[in-house]
Amino acid sequence: MLTVSTLIDPGFSPHSLNKYASLLTTGNGYMGVRGTHEEDYTQQTRGMYLAGLYHCAGRGETNELVNLPDVTGVQLEVNGEPFTLLSGQFEHWLRELDFSCGELRREVIWRAPSGARVRIVSRRFTSMAQHPLLAMQFTVTALDRDVTLSFSSGIDGTQTNSGRQHLDELSLRVFGQQVLQGAWATQSGSHEVVITSHCQLSQPADSCFTAKNRRLMQNSVINLTVGDSVTLEKVSWVVQRQPDTLSLDTFSRRCLNDLQASAAQGYEALRAASQVVWQQEWVKCRVVVDSRDARDQLALDFAHYHLAAMTPAHDERTSIAAKALTGEGYKGHVFWDTEVFLLPYHLLTNPETARSLLRYRYLNLAGAREKARRNGWHGALFPWESAQSGQEETPEFAAINIRTGLRQKVASALAEHHLVADIAWAVVNYWYATQDEAFMREEGITLLTETATFWISRATEVNGRLEIHDVIGPDEYTEHVNNNAFTNYLAWHNVEKALHFARQFGDVKPAFAQSAADFLQRLWLPKPDEHGVLAQDDTFFSKPTLDLSKYKAKAGKQTILLDYSRAEVNEMQILKQADVVMLTYMLPERFSAEECLANLAYYEPRTIHDSSLSKAIHGIVAARCGQPEEAYRFWQAGCEIDLGEDPHSSDDGIHAAATGAIWLGAVQGFAGLSVCDGELHLSPTLPEAWRSLRVPLCWHGVRLVLDITADDIVLTTTQALSLWLWGRKVCIEGEARYARSDFLNGKFGTATSEGIA
Ligand code: BGC
Repeated sequence: MLTVSTLIDPGFSPHSLNKYASLLTTGNGYMGVRGTHEEDYTQQTRGMYLAGLYHCAGRGETNELVNLPDVTGVQLEVNGEPFTLLSGQFEHWLRELDFSCGELRREVIWRAPSGARVRIVSRRFTSMAQHPLLAMQFTVTALDRDVTLSFSSGIDGTQTNSGRQHLDELSLRVFGQQVLQGAWATQSGSHEVVITSHCQLSQPADSCFTAKNRRLMQNSVINLTVGDSVTLEKVSWVVQRQPDTLSLDTFSRRCLNDLQASAAQGYEALRAASQVVWQQEWVKCRVVVDSRDARDQLALDFAHYHLAAMTPAHDERTSIAAKALTGEGYKGHVFWDTEVFLLPYHLLTNPETARSLLRYRYLNLAGAREKARRNGWHGALFPWESAQSGQEETPEFAAINIRTGLRQKVASALAEHHLVADIAWAVVNYWYATQDEAFMREEGITLLTETATFWISRATEVNGRLEIHDVIGPDEYTEHVNNNAFTNYLAWHNVEKALHFARQFGDVKPAFAQSAADFLQRLWLPKPDEHGVLAQDDTFFSKPTLDLSKYKAKAGKQTILLDYSRAEVNEMQILKQADVVMLTYMLPERFSAEECLANLAYYEPRTIHDSSLSKAIHGIVAARCGQPEEAYRFWQAGCEIDLGEDPHSSDDGIHAAATGAIWLGAVQGFAGLSVCDGELHLSPTLPEAWRSLRVPLCWHGVRLVLDITADDIVLTTTQALSLWLWGRKVCIEGEARYARSDFLNGKFGTATSEGIA
């Protein structure tokens, strides 16, 4: 069996409770359950979310991922003393998430204030084999005297999203001595969820049930003799009832049957079934590095685990939240993070999942068309923040100035339009990687032409040329500018590809062809200056600079906004995140290596990296420019975003995009993978610390494995495949080894498009 890392929570601390609750989330793409402790702590935020279950709680709010009733809590008393790590002493501590099977484990030895010692071992996982299933065990052993234990566990409907209650209770039931069931509906009535739990103790106990104050609980008392153990095994089944299907009664009965059938198998069998699916995932997709720094493999496994746990591959009506299913940050909304930072991973490992993520946008076209129309444009203007309906979900206001009472408007929904072209970019990449004609003929072409139509209507004519005014590029510290280079180039790419593929698939409407051709001819694409540097927008170069070292040292915390207002930041050359560098990353074929390097050198000192989407991109561009050590520094800094020591970095969820970027950095940075004009290019260069790198990929339906060392690369494919290696075309079938020196010292002469394998 494949050995995969485990992530360790180094010790109990009230300060890092929520960070580790996010990092240790157990998830299966359908549901995410924060890795909270079974016992309560005031600072601890419990969370259980179903992908796609959003609700808007009231005036001034937007839809948010609903925090569901909790089933993981266990209140334990030992001889009448509540178990909490804040009192008594704990003599042993182990807490880890085992990535190989997605099991969260904890083992503590606790001495109650009165002196009784118990060992507590808990385990839980959400099943990869049966999505609605969450199983846990909680075992207590009396270590040095007889004890009386009382357990209280059930379904706790008091959970909220930061105090906002989304659910109305529909029913609470108990069946026999072990099964509890509750049904809730969101207040708008749009969603119903049924949670059923089977709670079984391994020893006879005095049990009773209570339903009080939104909690349905099983309460049990047990006398345990010294040396003995008791295990509470709890299996829960969490499902949404789809409207217009079975009645709630029939549906609930079905849930009960499903739960009982699963619970009868027992924890170990359920875990084993889930582990089989995890193992298949690991074998298919795991990137393996032999590094001097063991944390590098941990970071890659962390990324891989969360990429699987966050992705609703089972449901094309749902996409990936910016904080995955690990917390309530950004209210569970979907951003460009999905198409640009997460989709490439799926595309190159599980293309069906990439298709499903693009289908999510396709199914939400109605909302995007409506947004464009409401703003006076044509085509599709996708919402900057999206949830389930495809409507704009960006909150209208952000922080409040508590002196003036005025709220600051969030401008992204109004002007951060590059998302439209990012989606088109992802569609094009999907085609390049899969050649999926059926998708292109329907969803692909529709998405490309609708987004292109938006850009054509969005452009403004100025002295005969077309410009794009009043936008926000990826750098959100610079708002409402004209001709943001990133936006213009991506919009051009969007329209060009729409026209190209409309022609290729034979369905180009003459009016569209004409307006697209005109747009392509007249859209202003700012050119690099004499040093190769591209202006971020029309006014950027005219703004003053500021020494940012103080703020860069606290990257991610937006400390610049403590010293300067947003308006002041807007008037300086200060970037929150990669913008022109992002452009050189996304469209590498448009810029020479010298230009990429010049822009990296110019923009890096001006970039605080206050967004988690920034460092990794600088790293990949640095790697592509032949600076592997600089790239490695960026890559490791990107890994630290969630895995670093800051106890609060991930309180409200992990950074999904940064997780994708860990994979991107290894694959696009060090394995040097890029797609230029539809062809696969590899240009591996490992950092000093890495002795080898293994990357499994999927390209045109062919499975391809790269085994890279400093000196050579071995490519193994399941079928014949041609690709570019260090600038030369090679054809591979089976296994082929290439020495780096043969390519770089010109043994193969000039670049050729013929096979050299
Ligand atoms: C970044 C955006 C990103 C969003 C969600 C913001 O801080 O500036 O680029 O899409 O976070 O991750």
